[in-house]
Amino acid sequence: MRAVDLIRRKRDGHALDADEIRAFVTGVVDGSWPDYQISALLMAIVLRGMTADEAAVLTDAMVRSGARLDFAAWGAAVVDKHSTGGVGDKVSLVLGPLAAACGVVVPMISGRGLGHTGGTLDKLEAIPGFRTRLSADEIRRSLERVGCALVGQTDDMVPADRRLYALRDVTGTVESIPLISASILSKKIAEGIKGLVLDVKVGSGAFMQTDDDARALATSIIRIAAINGVRTEAVLTAMDRPLGRAVGNAVEVIEAIETLKGRGPADTEQVCVHLTARMLVLGGVGGDHADAERRVRAAIASGEGLDRLRRIIEAQGGDAAVVDDYTRLPTPTYRVTVSAPSSGVFAPMDAGAVGRASVILGAGRDRVDADVDPSAGIELLLPPGADVTAGEAVLAVGGRDRARVDAARDQLVHAVRIVSGTPVLTPLVREVLDEASVA
Ligand code: URA
Repeated sequence: MRAVDLIRRKRDGHALDADEIRAFVTGVVDGSWPDYQISALLMAIVLRGMTADEAAVLTDAMVRSGARLDFAAWGAAVVDKHSTGGVGDKVSLVLGPLAAACGVVVPMISGRGLGHTGGTLDKLEAIPGFRTRLSADEIRRSLERVGCALVGQTDDMVPADRRLYALRDVTGTVESIPLISASILSKKIAEGIKGLVLDVKVGSGAFMQTDDDARALATSIIRIAAINGVRTEAVLTAMDRPLGRAVGNAVEVIEAIETLKGRGPADTEQVCVHLTARMLVLGGVGGDHADAERRVRAAIASGEGLDRLRRIIEAQGGDAAVVDDYTRLPTPTYRVTVSAPSSGVFAPMDAGAVGRASVILGAGRDRVDADVDPSAGIELLLPPGADVTAGEAVLAVGGRDRARVDAARDQLVHAVRIVSGTPVLTPLVREVLDEASVA
């Protein structure tokens, strides 16, 4: 099967058959397809699309390109959550421990932040000693002991995605629903999950800027996952403003811990409880959604969720005492505030603007190989909708690099809006899609 023939067929709008797609993925992994032919086929896919069946085969071939975890013999409810990424999105740090405390096994393999969206691994690594690079055996042992592992991808999982994503990144071929779906799902299916809750963030701080785009991605992933035997539900959640009041690394760890203590911002708690409850129902351990939400809230009230986080941190070599003593986390050496320019009502901040400021600050990265500052963070000192007087501090900006802190503050000054009436917030949980609704 010649690469050029597959490229021509896709260029001319034909569907590729399963053998052709599997030959392509084999060529990606064994090196027999050169970069230029892989990139040409990727561009043809961007322009011509793929059917759900084609994308499902692509996903399966990518999963099979490397090692996968397998929990079939455990007979456990193995369910994960994936977020398409947002600003202040610390949901995984709350949801993983809560779901595990309620009886779900969560082999959560996450990524690092890139661009204006933060990454779970960067946040976790703000905890002194916390190891995110675990071998497959270590992941299995952690799951046996504490029911949840919060880790990065092992080197031998889904190698096809590593090569494909690196090429997509530099050839303008990231923006394709089937390619994004296969990329996300192959990494999740390789975790050995039976169910997946997808948090599709929508708005200026998200990959998907409109409900229509978010719905299209959710529909594609649900269909492809179903063909591959993984039940998936997608929840569209608001990302026109940051989630919660903290954006950065250590500051988000603190907000996650506060949420597990029952003292988190209302929006962070609502999204975490909602998504965790969906994982319980998908895993068959939660009754209906209302029952499951009650169980999740009970795990917060009893401290079981917090205790689970302590055990996860210990299991991964981190300093679990941070849960009770936030001074053990990296603290900024330089901190400034942004004040309200006038009296009125503190309007919700634009998530994209806050996310971009967090990259300038060094809390996120603009290049894959850039370091992040674990102490860097932006804190909203008041909830959106609060009354403020002129000159009152509304944001705190901190980090270890004074020039970056000042530059981020200068950006944020322009993003603060004080309005006269009560601002109307778009619904936090906007829509839920499942196999039935996309059939
Ligand atoms: N995230 C992924 O993992 N893959 C994509 O293609 C896009 C976002």
